[in-house]
Amino acid sequence: MLGARLAALARQIPKGARVADIGTDHGFMPVYLGKNGVSNRIIATDISPGSLSKARDLIAKEKLEDIIETRLGPGLKVISPGEIDTVVIAGMGGLLISLILEEGTDVLEYVHRLVLQPMNNTDKLRKWLIDNGFAMEEESLVKEGRYIYETIVARPGYQEVSDDIEYEVGFKLLKNRDTLFGEFIGFKINKVENIISRLEKENSQNAQKVVDELSIKLKKYHEVLKCFAQWRR
Ligand SMILES: C[S@@+](CC[C@H](N)C(=O)[O-])C[C@H]1O[C@@H](n2cnc3c(N)ncnc32)[C@H](O)[C@@H]1O
Repeated sequence: MLGARLAALARQIPKGARVADIGTDHGFMPVYLGKNGVSNRIIATDISPGSLSKARDLIAKEKLEDIIETRLGPGLKVISPGEIDTVVIAGMGGLLISLILEEGTDVLEYVHRLVLQPMNNTDKLRKWLIDNGFAMEEESLVKEGRYIYETIVARPGYQEVSDDIEYEVGFKLLKNRDTLFGEFIGFKINKVENIISRLEKENSQNAQKVVDELSIKLKKYHEVLKCFAQWRR
């Protein structure tokens, strides 16, 4: 059984996909995909020998060695172009995910689905995707424990950006009226308000400049939240 976070990602992988799970760690995702007949061609990778050894043990325990191959090494460098059509990268920072994608553009030429779950810097990851010819196919929020995680499914294509705030609040979450959206924006508002109140105490010109920038962002968050609240009525 997968936790809510990985289960939300697994639902985004079409049957018959040829999948690379980059940074697999325990190997839960590839084992789930193999066991449930979602894919019979999976490459599970990790940069850490210790992590990959955990994955190998689980794969062997579930007798899935014919379906799941393990490879040790960084990012997409261990994948050859054309071997897979779907990439999963979960549980890493948005900047690291962007770097892995940036360094694997030869592999990405043959990929039609990226299933991503960044832990932070989601705005920067969305920007990288859009700047590099990907569009958001699906976005969702999932709660596991106390945390809300963002999942992004991207495919090659053009993504229109009407306001920079979309990099942060997503392109689909508001439109899909994701039930966790209010809570998700509430967290962001709280975080920015805390930073502003700390900076205001500094009483410096530099701090004031950041306060001004953050106040614009805060206003946009409130507008988005208002829009969501109106839609929910
Ligand atoms: C927090 S775990 C996430 C595991 C799993 N993907 C998940 O979401 O539950 C991050 C894993 O990514 C691996 N990792 C970090 N940087 C990597 C890279 N550049 N290439 C491949 N794996 C990497 C780490 O060794 C670790 O096992």
